[in-house]
Amino acid sequence: VKIKILLLGFGNVGRGFCELLSEKRELLMQRHGIHTSIIGISTRKRGSIYVPHGIDMETFLSRTTEDPLLDFKQIFPEMTVKGKDLSVEDLVSLADYDVLAECTVTSMDGGQPACGWIRNALERGKHVITTNKGPIAFHYPYLHELELKYGGRLLFEGTVMSGTPVFSTLSRGLPGSRIDSFEGVLNGTCNYILELMQQGIDYEKALQKAKECGYAEADPSMDVEGYDTALKALILSQVLNEVSLSMEKIELEGIKGINERFFKEACMGKGKIRLVARGILGHNSTDISVKPEVLQKDHPLYNLPGPMNGILFHSDTIGQVYISGRGAGSRETGFALLRDLISLFPGEGQKFKPINIRESEKLFRSDHRC
Ligand code: HSE
Repeated sequence: VKIKILLLGFGNVGRGFCELLSEKRELLMQRHGIHTSIIGISTRKRGSIYVPHGIDMETFLSRTTEDPLLDFKQIFPEMTVKGKDLSVEDLVSLADYDVLAECTVTSMDGGQPACGWIRNALERGKHVITTNKGPIAFHYPYLHELELKYGGRLLFEGTVMSGTPVFSTLSRGLPGSRIDSFEGVLNGTCNYILELMQQGIDYEKALQKAKECGYAEADPSMDVEGYDTALKALILSQVLNEVSLSMEKIELEGIKGINERFFKEACMGKGKIRLVARGILGHNSTDISVKPEVLQKDHPLYNLPGPMNGILFHSDTIGQVYISGRGAGSRETGFALLRDLISLFPGEGQKFKPINIRESEKLFRSDHRC
């Protein structure tokens, strides 16, 4: 199947996604019968390009690496429509594509403008895959209605714990279960900063390092003031409890105000400070909090080095389920988009394919008979 993708955003995540598409071109073809082409890329800072038959990814990636700040118009004059500045709205509403891959910056302003682009795409019956927390946190119930009404799917694995499989584990691994509560460390930047601070590095230096590693949001106050974690907790709670909730519901405290005394106390008790999101998902109520807590060694969220995230679900079927993995980064979050894409078009034979992709190590020997 040929899949045309329109990509909105070419920051760390957009680049990670393009690199993975390029790296895994053969595998996508062989395993899933997917042939992808990116027909348009629109960015806030560098403008837009549109190539109806597909952009040559290798050339695109190498030239945008050479000139990381130049406008697309200057690097690819042949790919922009002459005499006309392509707006992102034009592309979303008029271009011919199958999947909108949306990875622009999360905004606290009701998830706009990305939410409007996602709405337009869904109203055209297109599939949408996104890593943008704003639209899902602020408008999930409405967008989900559009999904049901027009038939395009809306997938957002990368909004919580980047490429670490949270929603796919819940939907494929825990069907028929009721999740009563969750507790999680959901922000890589904060976890990384807290880890460095506990080693004696000061806050500003630690934040700078988190930025350099590509973990922090474009506006890092989103991370350290706890909004990023709150958005993720809001997404999880709405999806799991099928309710519409707002940010005001959340008891929120970030890590910015953490003082030395808190660290000393934590160290003395052999604990670790983590920014913990908790959700209690009741029948008629949902309570969410995000705040720094001291966790002791026996807690599953204690042992999360650097940008690692973890989440503990409490289910009515198998009790506790713990998922842990990287929660931020270009390749990690790009992978979330890749996985969403594959789950839209899994391919005919997927059921019988081995999961491991090391072709050289044959998992099933053809001479084996039972
Ligand atoms: N800034 C976010 C974090 C990125 O540090 O977790 C992933 O949402």
